[in-house]
Amino acid sequence: MIMEDWVNNLNTWFNSYCENFKELTDEQKRNFDIKRDHSFRVADFSVQLAEKLEFSFEEQKLAYFIGLFHDIGRFNQLVEFNTFDDLKSVDHAEYSVKVLKDEDVLAKFEIEIENEKLIFISIANHNKLKLPENLSEQELKLARLIRDADKIDILKVLSEYYSTRNVNANHTLTWDLPKGSSVSKAVSKEVLDGKLVSKKNVVSEIDVKIMQMSWVYDLNYRSSFEKLLKKRFIETIYNTLPKNDLVIEIYRKVKVYSENIIYNS
Ligand SMILES: [Fe+2]
Repeated sequence: MIMEDWVNNLNTWFNSYCENFKELTDEQKRNFDIKRDHSFRVADFSVQLAEKLEFSFEEQKLAYFIGLFHDIGRFNQLVEFNTFDDLKSVDHAEYSVKVLKDEDVLAKFEIEIENEKLIFISIANHNKLKLPENLSEQELKLARLIRDADKIDILKVLSEYYSTRNVNANHTLTWDLPKGSSVSKAVSKEVLDGKLVSKKNVVSEIDVKIMQMSWVYDLNYRSSFEKLLKKRFIETIYNTLPKNDLVIEIYRKVKVYSENIIYNS
């Protein structure tokens, strides 16, 4: 099957899945649309990335599948628990795997048995702090790909959101934290040590933004860094932060790290 047909068939199924949820509140509808659009963009970017990385044609098709369905559990999560907060409900990645199994989606698209595990592992681990250690080379390839594609799209959405801020507050994007006036100590230590900022240290909106900037330490592929720099996502987030020595130092550190990957690999 050519890629275009594959994409169209998956999109059609996904759209009708989303439309099966009736009687949503206006807010739920808005959140549904946010997740649906995110899924389409992640799927597109996944396949672009897979192409650039010269994955086999089969792997490119799987990349689109994983990208489109990585968050499919979000819709049930929202309807059942009225939140996207995994801590207050379910792990949405595991939930996505469950939905795919319940709906028998892999069989509908004649996905071969040996690719089942590959898909479920990639989806189940897209939101984990780290990938499990015992993955095969092919599992690693796709599990890393969805993590990159997902993060890049979230950074895109956030950078747009922060820069057009007052239009429409959306607490699912920023959590309900006080604005804050400086970066917390624990947060600045982590990011300056070249580590991902842990959620537990985040206490203000400024910290949230720094945490999002620290995601560069968790990107896997050079092409992801290219997109990040070309689209200026990190810079845009930085531009919405108060400028002081610490914030400037953090931004430099993250930027230099990203540029080094591009120019030295
Ligand atoms: Fe997700």
